[in-house]
Amino acid sequence: MQEKIIILDFGSQYTQLIARRVREINVYCEIHPFNKCPEMDESVKGVILSGSPHSVRDAEAPKPDLSAIKGKMPLLGVCYGAQYLSQFFGGEVQPSKTREYGRANLEFVDTTSELMKGVSQHSQVWMSHGDTIVSLPEGYNIVASTKDVKVAAYKIENEQTYGMQFHPEVYHSTEGTLILQNFVADICGCTQDWTPDSFVDTTVADLKAKLGNDKVVLGLSGGVDSTVAGVLLHKAIGKNLTCIFVDNGLLRKDEFEAVLDSYQHMGLNVIGVDAKKAFLDELAGVSDPETKRKIIGRVFIETFDIEAHKIQDVKWLAQGTIYPDVIESVSVNGPSATIKSHHNVGGLPEEMNLKVVEPLNLLFKDEVRRVGRAMGIADSLLGRHPFPGPGLAIRILGDITAEKVTLLQEVDHIFIQGLKDNNLYDQVWQAGVMLLPVQSVGVMGDERTYEKVVALRAVASTDGMTADWVHLPYDFLAKVSNDIINKVKGVNRVVYDISSKPPATIEWE
Ligand code: XMP
Repeated sequence: MQEKIIILDFGSQYTQLIARRVREINVYCEIHPFNKCPEMDESVKGVILSGSPHSVRDAEAPKPDLSAIKGKMPLLGVCYGAQYLSQFFGGEVQPSKTREYGRANLEFVDTTSELMKGVSQHSQVWMSHGDTIVSLPEGYNIVASTKDVKVAAYKIENEQTYGMQFHPEVYHSTEGTLILQNFVADICGCTQDWTPDSFVDTTVADLKAKLGNDKVVLGLSGGVDSTVAGVLLHKAIGKNLTCIFVDNGLLRKDEFEAVLDSYQHMGLNVIGVDAKKAFLDELAGVSDPETKRKIIGRVFIETFDIEAHKIQDVKWLAQGTIYPDVIESVSVNGPSATIKSHHNVGGLPEEMNLKVVEPLNLLFKDEVRRVGRAMGIADSLLGRHPFPGPGLAIRILGDITAEKVTLLQEVDHIFIQGLKDNNLYDQVWQAGVMLLPVQSVGVMGDERTYEKVVALRAVASTDGMTADWVHLPYDFLAKVSNDIINKVKGVNRVVYDISSKPPATIEWE
């Protein structure tokens, strides 16, 4: 039985970070909304309560039922979690007199406490709270303090229950991982055997048992998730997996052939479908970004459906869904507005009548990469920048023609190859070029030109939710700009996008 830690989420921005840190210690954990606590069977070794944007003093503050947990198994409350464990058990929480955000140093550490074992006396921690625990219930003992926050961490006598006001999961808490390790390994007694290799072994065994001799179809996109899902399934069921890779005509230059080739080299049974014409025909004359996305989504489904039905007796549809897509989020400020009809260009219809298998739905993105590496997938595939499903269609502002696609492919190729040649590719989270619906005047030789403008975009990010533009070296930008204008006919001006997200977005459409 897979032992695990349960993280109860109260809506903190850091909840997923707690999960990632625990998993970095090779302990499996799951995030659940505080009001949908799963059954505490013997696989659960301990529980962590997350932070929250709420104050425990709010009328609508989340109030979990901890009767099956507190005092019965190891429990750690972080920030809101720690305040909840004091306020509702006889302590008192008040608004902080001074703002307590950012770095702080511990002044007192009780290293005889199992939680704080090995933590240095002035360890740096990260605070982010508007409330302070001013008095603890009876039987709660302080195990760490800072100058301003007396109750930085505590333990409840005769229980394996702990609370901490600071965030051990945040990078700036320099010994945060040690504290989490003390909790999950020593206090909860987890064996720390959840590694990429063990994940591959168990997942392949599970897939074998689940799929038996059934046939499975998977859409490959060239991206990390579908590639890793494909290789895992291939290990489990070999030739019973058929992969479909659709060329929508909106990929990067030579991308389709190169990626298809590497899939075939890995031994995957993959069908490459040239659907360029169907996509471009349907997109002709369309300028609205959302309409473009919808058309591309629909044509992809139609193309995929036709190919999938050519596979006799196919029973399963595999998808590269990852954990952040399935975590049920605690809605704090109501459902967030849809800004773009994003993602899931491959959201396939229910009428396909296939059962769904999602081998990566327990993994975070960085874990997918590590699992890929453990299976020997080349870094050239695992380290690829994210690329949007609708591809160059949303980087050609305005209507799309085959000529514009070819022109943008050439420009994009110069930029991306330049990043690779100058060892900048891996320092950038995502890069690409936008073809603007603008012409500008220039001179070439003695001639006046009136040609297109392209905008280069390179951003740093961790998940695409927020991003900042990368300060690429001027010399590099100068060289790329020169190369583009000299080599690509039809472009006479190159600009660099220096907007962050928010308020801008990464793509221009
Ligand atoms: P934005 O432009 O919203 O992009 O800042 C954030 C991330 O999402 C990608 N993106 C998409 N991916 N289908 C996709 O599969 C889409 O329609 C889509 N739109 C944006 C974008 O490339 C970036 O990584």
